[in-house]
Amino acid sequence: MKNILILTAILIITSCANNKEELPNPETPIVITGTPITYNNHTKKYFDNYCIACHAVGQTQSFWPLTTYTEVSAFTGSNELIQKRVLDFGNMPPSGSVSGFLTLAEKDTLQMWLDQGAPQ
Ligand code: HEC
Repeated sequence: MKNILILTAILIITSCANNKEELPNPETPIVITGTPITYNNHTKKYFDNYCIACHAVGQTQSFWPLTTYTEVSAFTGSNELIQKRVLDFGNMPPSGSVSGFLTLAEKDTLQMWLDQGAPQ
């Protein structure tokens, strides 16, 4: 009986060890090659497409405009409001927004841009 328990324990341990080898190492950093993500080349169009229907002079959120790099930068600094509202909470654009929503790929790009310090 004791031998069976030991054998079972060995089987469980070795099967776990095997499983672990098949999984990607979560510590491996994602290496982004090629062009750095910038506002001008990548993320400006997201704000133009999905935000400025409300966040622009003459629209409902005219006091929080998102039409230029300087305006957007007010929300990418230490307050992290774009990080929180668009990516963490996902409540910007608000539900039902007529100008649509970022795709998952666009959210990934936005996240990489923020992680790189939101360069212009
Ligand atoms: C349909 C209109 C609409 C669209 C489109 C929209 N927003 Fe908003 N946004 C609002 C409203 C209304 C508020 C104020 C109420 C609130 O905070 O939820 C707001 C608030 C915010 C705030 C909080 C500002 C602060 O100082 O607290 C941020 C940041 C923001 N929006 C970012 C965005 C971004 C980025 C997009 C595009 C990806 C976007 N919004 C698209 C209507 C909109």
